[in-house]
This record gives sequence, C-alpha cells and structure tokens, in this order.
Amino acid sequence: MDTSQTEAEQYEHIRTRVFPSSDDAVRVVAAALARLIRDRSQERLNTVLGLATGSTPVKLYRELIRMHREEGLSFQNVVTFNLDEYHGLPPNHPESYRHFMEVQLFKHVDIPSENIHVPDGLVPRPEVYAYCQEYERKIREAGGLDVQILGIGRTGHIGFNEPGSGPDSRTRLVSLDRLTRRDAARDFRGEANVPGYAITMGVGTILQARELALLAWGESKASILRAAIEGPQSESIPASFLQRHPNCQSYIDEPAASELTRFRVPWKVGTVDWKPSLVRKAVVSLAADLKKPVLRLRDEDYSENGLASLLMETGSSYSLNIRIFNELQHTITGWPGGKPNADDSNRPVPANPAHKRVLVFSPEPLDAELGMAGTLHRLVGHGHEVTLVYLTSGNLGVPDSEARMAIGLLNELSENPEGDPQRRKRIRALAEEVDNKKPFDEDSADLRKFKGFIRKAEARASCQVLGLDLSRVIFLDLPFYETGRYRQFRPSEEDVSAIRALCELIQPHQIYLTGSGADPSSVSGISFQLLRTALETCRNDAWSGRCQTWIYAAAERPWPIHEIEMAVPLSPAELSVKLDCLYHHRSQRSQTPFLENQSGESWQQAEHNNRVTAQQYDRLGLAEYEAMESFRRSREPGLAR
Ligand code: F6R
Repeated sequence: MDTSQTEAEQYEHIRTRVFPSSDDAVRVVAAALARLIRDRSQERLNTVLGLATGSTPVKLYRELIRMHREEGLSFQNVVTFNLDEYHGLPPNHPESYRHFMEVQLFKHVDIPSENIHVPDGLVPRPEVYAYCQEYERKIREAGGLDVQILGIGRTGHIGFNEPGSGPDSRTRLVSLDRLTRRDAARDFRGEANVPGYAITMGVGTILQARELALLAWGESKASILRAAIEGPQSESIPASFLQRHPNCQSYIDEPAASELTRFRVPWKVGTVDWKPSLVRKAVVSLAADLKKPVLRLRDEDYSENGLASLLMETGSSYSLNIRIFNELQHTITGWPGGKPNADDSNRPVPANPAHKRVLVFSPEPLDAELGMAGTLHRLVGHGHEVTLVYLTSGNLGVPDSEARMAIGLLNELSENPEGDPQRRKRIRALAEEVDNKKPFDEDSADLRKFKGFIRKAEARASCQVLGLDLSRVIFLDLPFYETGRYRQFRPSEEDVSAIRALCELIQPHQIYLTGSGADPSSVSGISFQLLRTALETCRNDAWSGRCQTWIYAAAERPWPIHEIEMAVPLSPAELSVKLDCLYHHRSQRSQTPFLENQSGESWQQAEHNNRVTAQQYDRLGLAEYEAMESFRRSREPGLAR
C-alpha cells in the first residue's frame, strides 16, 4: 500500500495526478523528462525513452520541441524505442507510427537518427519472431528504458496489447481489436483500410521500464481509466497490470478522471464539503442505485448508504427529497428560449427579452444536430432569431465513395453542350482524382473543398427540416481545420478572431456549444478551446454580461442527470423531426466512433441517449416524456455566465 496516498485516493492502485487541463499535465511531464535528460547528459549518460503515438502524446511532444527551441534542451543523448507499429505499413506511409514520430517529434529536435527505434512494419511474417527478440535485445543493450510514456486505448490496451495480453507478454505480432480498429478508422478513412495486425512491445516489456507515465485526456477515457486504476488486475484490461509497477504514475485531466471514486462518489472516500451540486449528485445517485423515485427515499436509505453526513447537514430526508425533486423539476422546460410573460424565477432561461438572438456553434456539421436538433426546432418555432454556425466544414470526414456519387451527379448536369467548359474541366479533374486515388493519398485542395460542399449541402438540408432560415446558417471554415489534418491541427489567433467577430456581430442572448470534455486534440476539443478563448476576450462587452452559455452533450456521452441544468422534452413527433434532420447527413454513415458495448449509427446513438435521459427523469419520479435533450451551464472561465 502506498503511504503517500490520501484517503480520497484509497481505491486507486496506480498513483494518479489529476490536472485541470492536458496542457497543465504535459508541462509537468515534459519538465520531468527534460530534467532527467539534462541530469544524465551531465553525467555523460544516455536517457532511454519509450515513446507512444496517437493523439495523447502530441501535446507532450510539442512541449518538448518548444523546450528544445527555446530552452536549449538537447536530444543528442536521447535514445528512443517506440511501443508499436502497424504491420504491413512502410515507414513513409502517412499513417505509420514511424511517420507520425518524424512529423510530431524527431524532425524538430536534434536526436541522432541512429538513436531512434520504431518497430519495422515491413518485416516479413516468418521473420517477425526473430525481429521482435532483436528489438528486446536492443532495449537491453541500450540499458533498458528509463521512462516509458503510455496512452490507453478504450479497450484498455497499452501499446497494442489488446485484451487477452498477459503481464509476461513480450514484443510480438498481435491482431487488433475491433474497437481499436474502429477508433483508427477516421485516420485510415474507413475501418476497412485499418491494418489488422501490429508489432507491439509486450506488457512484460513495458513493465521492465524503470518508470512509467500513463497519460489520458477527455471523458471518453474515463471509464476505462477507472477500470485500469481501481479495478482488479486482469488480462481483459491489460493497462490494469500497470498496478504492479512500483514507479508508475498516471497524469490525467479532469474529464478523464471523472469516473474515479474520489470524483464519482467522493462522499464514500472521506469528508466532503456538501456544495449544492454535490448534494444533488448524491441524492440522484442514491435514488438511481436503489431504483427509487427521489420522493420515496427514507432516512435509512441515506444512512445505510454512506450518506449519513448529508442527512446531518440537511435535517431530514423529507425536506432534502423535496428540495432535490424541485431542483430537477425546474430543469425541465419546453421553452429553451424562455417563456414570454411567465414567472421565470424557477426557470432555467429568463423570460426577457421575449425574442432572443441565439447563437449555436457546431464544431462540424452534425454535432449540433445530434446534440440539440429538437431544441433548435423549438427555438425557431418560438420565433427566436437563431444563427447556426458550423465552425469547420468537416470535409475530412467525407469518404471518397460519397464524393464519387456527387461528382456523378454533376457529370450528368454538365453533359449539356451549352454547359460552361471550365466547369466541365473541373468536374473531370475531380472525377479523375477520385478514380485514381489510392486509399492513403491526400486529397487535393480542390477535392477537399468539394467534400466540404457535400457536408454543407447535407447540413443545409438538415437545417431546412428544422425550419432554420438558411441565411442564418453560417459556415465559418476555420483555418485550423481547413489547412490541417487529424492530429496536426494548429489553432491560431485567426480562428479566435473569426469567432469573436461573429459574436460581436450577433450580440447573442444565448450561446450553445459543445466539446467541454472532449479529447483536446479532436475537432470538438479544439473548437471548445477556441470558443472559450474568444468568449473570454468578449467578457467586457455589454451583450456578454446578459448572455447565457449552454453546453450540449456530445453524441457519445449524455450529461449525467445531476449535471443537467436544462432538459428540453421532445414529443414523439419532435423526435421524428430530429431523426429526419439527422438522416440528411448521409456521408457520415458509420463514421462516428461509438462507445464500447454500443453500436449503430450516430443518429441511433443520439436517439438512444435522448430516450435514456427521459427514462432517468421518469424513474426519479418526474414526468414521463418520450425523449429529452440536455444542457448544462458552462463552468469554464470565460464561459461562466
Ligand atoms: C500508440 C499506443 C496506443 C495508444 C492508445 C491511445 O503507440 O501505444 O496504446 O496510446 O491507443 O490512443 P490515443 O492517444 O489516440 O487515444
């Protein structure tokens, strides 16, 4: 047992540091690595680093590059071994891990090329075993790994050690799990293109490093982290074997930590400050655990389930139940833009002004529709001036097959001999590109733009279903996205100013956005940060003081009930309108990754989430609706109003 652990951390079998943001975490990890590299260099010793790829370490590598450029951190005495590589991919393949490492780190620092080791994806199958043994020998020869950097996959894999990998496994060829391949589908433009095999260091190889640093960001990692950190050690979650290492530490952000006991049910691991939000969380989770409506909870239910201290503070279950029931009741509104001429003292949205200017931000087409199509429909129906802003075109998410179909349509049209010859030429060039493209070729600027048109056309069609005025549907085409690609987005001041200019133009009474718990390197996560920065700079503008900011939930994870501050019920007919709207995004079929144990299309996921939210309210003893969309007020600095 680790004696440095606090009472709240008692269930954690891996030492865990939780940071407000991934930026804060990577600064700490990079500083520790830099210290080690400098100390060892002074003693004329090499530092041997085990490195990972994927979204997680990207910011860490950026910070190391910054330290190299600005603080003279040298990598001359650094030797690296990467965890894994797809089998079958050549090193110069855009999705190979070797290529990833070159682009994200190696080419920006002064590491000698002979010090770099990434498994070779092209080793012929019969030679793989010997090759893997040789890889291990090289690690030993280098003196063993000083520090191994790790990310975690949603299957609980580390490296490519998928469920079933034992603690003694060594470097070897493995086949990739279905969920892992699905998660990689976006990078490979379709699950079918994702290699089925990889070479990976084994769990045993990883455990031999002198120090391990596990990094994880975003709420999509929360449940697997909980299992790895607090659960039993098991082959079904290979990351749980990290618990055996005497010097392993995890560095995670708040959304990724949200399922750990100390955040999920803090009253079970020590004394807590019973803030109103925590009280609501405790009562709702007690009612859900006991499958009882809130108003039927008894004193003994509280005292027998670790909530005696809450009863002591609040008096009796009777008054507490009523208080929480009313709070939940007051989150429900069919008037997301406020109910004109009504007493709004217990409503989430003020009645005045009766006609509001509403600004809805969608990171890509479909995000806002999945999160709040029903609410958008209501806002429009109630006569508010609704502007829907798509921050990016989402063109990277359009498969070639969709482009081919649209080009086919255009071809039909341009058959007309009077058609513009220039246009015909352009269409022909697009057709040739799509027909001759190999799966991993980059799209030309023209093809990317064309794919953006497809998504914009789908978005407009879906907005029409919701009754939105198309002159108020804006495509901002933020430069970070239009000039970048996945994992290589570089948001800048230009993106922030575009958002800020729009806010100043509209001067909204309400803003809706999403992405608060998203992976910070995803389009949603980056969009959220940009909005946060832009809104922070508007802080002193007159409109900003009276503007409410609402966050809609991402398609993969609905808000837990206790966090919901506005729930907008959808009737069966309204739910049909929502689904009709979602169906118009046909290029996005099976593109969105889903949560473990859940499958289907993103619109099925959204429908499921909205129905589940309604059922949860019903079970807590509130009215029974068909479905509900849910929102919470922003607690982020710059957005907190
Ligand atoms: C990559 C690796 C993987 C990733 C994991 C998380 O070298 O070893 O285990 O760390 O799949 O991936 P991201 O960071 O993309 O969420």
